[in-house]
Amino acid sequence: MNESATHYGRVTRYLHWGMAALFVWQFASAGAHALLPDSALDEFFWPTHKLTGTLLMALAIVRLAWALIERHRRPPSVNLAATVGHLTLYALMIVIPAVALLRQYGSGRAFSPFGLPLMPGFEGEIEWMTALGSLVHGLLGWTLLALVVGHVAMAVAHRRLGQQDVLKRMVVRRSPR
Ligand code: HEM
Ligand code: HEM
Repeated sequence: MNESATHYGRVTRYLHWGMAALFVWQFASAGAHALLPDSALDEFFWPTHKLTGTLLMALAIVRLAWALIERHRRPPSVNLAATVGHLTLYALMIVIPAVALLRQYGSGRAFSPFGLPLMPGFEGEIEWMTALGSLVHGLLGWTLLALVVGHVAMAVAHRRLGQQDVLKRMVVRRSPR
């Protein structure tokens, strides 16, 4: 379960790859909505956007808490750029759905993801909340996609260029002693 100096543990690995799959889905819904509005693809994916986004927010909080608990046991960072990059990924994974949920709350409309009555709704609107969400949610969302592309490229580059194979830390299980 726990991290070691050479490998990430099961909790981190399952969260990393499970969330990566959900992010592919999330960006497919955002991409179809932006590039092919009202297409069959958009109509298939878009109704899942708020749900998947809310699930990603919950998982990001669990992941951040686990990373903090395990911070002294984790494999050491490769360099400063990796530390800054991973911290930025964490920040965006929290801020992007947070501003969307704030906008959802501010709209006054009820919101019950997976049947959970998260927001009961109210009369009227809280304008700064809806304005903030509309201003930054999509922009930060696309910024995260660009960072993820860079993140994957760097993971592959480290492997190909014969430097430290960081992919092993996130893929391979610790060999049983
Ligand atoms: C980490 C999670 C999320 C990511 C990466 C994400 C990403 C995106 C992106 C890139 C767009 C822009 C699409 C376009 O340009 O047309 C977008 C739009 C949208 N998202 Fe999300 N989203 C997330 C979570 C959420 C959540 C939790 C909600 C609501 C509860 C939400 C509601 C919306 C809405 C209503 C739009 C259309 C309006 C706009 O562009 O701001 N999203 N999202
Ligand atoms: C095919 C897709 C992906 C690949 C190949 C990949 C690869 C990796 C590798 C090799 C590491 C370990 C790096 C190290 O220890 O220095 C890592 C860590 C990390 N990755 Fe990814 N990644 C992918 C997708 C994503 C996505 C979509 C996100 C988030 C939006 C993400 C966020 C992170 C974060 C925050 C870390 C730091 C460790 C942690 O706390 O989980 N990755 N990734």
